[in-house]
Parts: sequence; C-alpha cells; structure tokens
Amino acid sequence: MSEQTQGTEQAPTSGEHAAENGEHATEAGLHIEKWEGIWLRIALVMTLVFIGAITLAALSFGISVPGATARINPATLNDEGSPFATPGIRELAPGKYEVYMVAQTWNFLPDRLEFPAGSEVTFYLTARDVVHGLKIAGTNVNMMALPGQVSTLKATFDTPGTFNYICHEYCGYVAGAPIGHHTMYGQITVLPAEGAAETAQATTE
Ligand code: CUA
Repeated sequence: MSEQTQGTEQAPTSGEHAAENGEHATEAGLHIEKWEGIWLRIALVMTLVFIGAITLAALSFGISVPGATARINPATLNDEGSPFATPGIRELAPGKYEVYMVAQTWNFLPDRLEFPAGSEVTFYLTARDVVHGLKIAGTNVNMMALPGQVSTLKATFDTPGTFNYICHEYCGYVAGAPIGHHTMYGQITVLPAEGAAETAQATTE
C-alpha cells in the first residue's frame, strides 16, 4: 500500500523533492514539526476548554442565547388576544414573572419595571417596526428585537438596585427632533426582598 502511495506521489513530479516526500511518507507517516505539534495540542485543549465553559455556563449559570419562541405579524400586535396588546408584567407564581415587551421607534413598552429581589423573569420581546435591541445592564439579557419574531430570555434579579435597559441596534433618528435611537431606554428597579411591594409593576411614561 505504501509503495503504491509512493509511486503515485512521485508520478506528477520528478527529482529530489518527490523522492524526499516519498521517504517521509514511508518512514514516519505524516511529518509534523515539533512546534506545530505543540500548537496543535494547545489549540485542541483550548477548544475543549471553551466547549466545557459554554456547557457549564448554559447548565449551571443559566446563560443562554435568546430563543425564538414564536412568530407574530407586527401589524397584529395590538389585536385582541395578542399578549403584546397590553405589554407589561404577568405574575406566574410568587417570585416568577413574565414580561411582554414591545420595542418601537423610539421607546420600549413598558419602559419602567419593578420587581422584588430574587424574581425570576422571562422576557418576551418583539418589535413593532424596525430592528431594535434590548440590553439590560448588569444582567445576561442581551437580545435583538425583530419585527415578526418573539424572542425570549430568562433572567433572575437577585441584587437590589436600578438597571437601565437600552436599545443597542441603531434604529434611526429624525433631524431636529428630540427623539431617536439614543433616547430609547428604560429602567428596572429591583427592590429589596424585605418590605418590597408584593407584586411587580410595569409602567410606561
Ligand atoms: Cu431602538 Cu435603537
């Protein structure tokens, strides 16, 4: 078998190079330089570490990419029966909420949210007009708001404080008007668990 390989490899070329290649092939198989081998091993180990880190993050820390749970016609967001007709918070169980949020030029509905600390919140996000983004500072929530798609992501708010959320996809601007992408933001207030209002609240200014 190896002699055949040597023969075919030598066929297209002639001279010393072909003969050397043939010898390498028969003596040691594929020849890998020492440092090339070391870097190959490092790259392999790093790849395994990264895969491990992603798996750990997904399973242990709940960090995940947003999912596309459903499709929705942007023109029907306000229709009867649409969960986006009344954007805001729904309480599923004590400490468990879901938020239906609409991103539109140039605000979020709702743009003020309030939860007691420890709340587990699932966000359902869609856009009414153009592509927007939702990034909640200090959390793992970072997703795009796409017209026609409902994106979802879960976050747990353990630390009391205020967390701004911003649109991070450039969504336009009107010259001379006090409106535009850079004004599109909202705020989440996480209240200390003790003495906090029993239920979460959402408002739109
Ligand atoms: Cu919405 Cu930028």
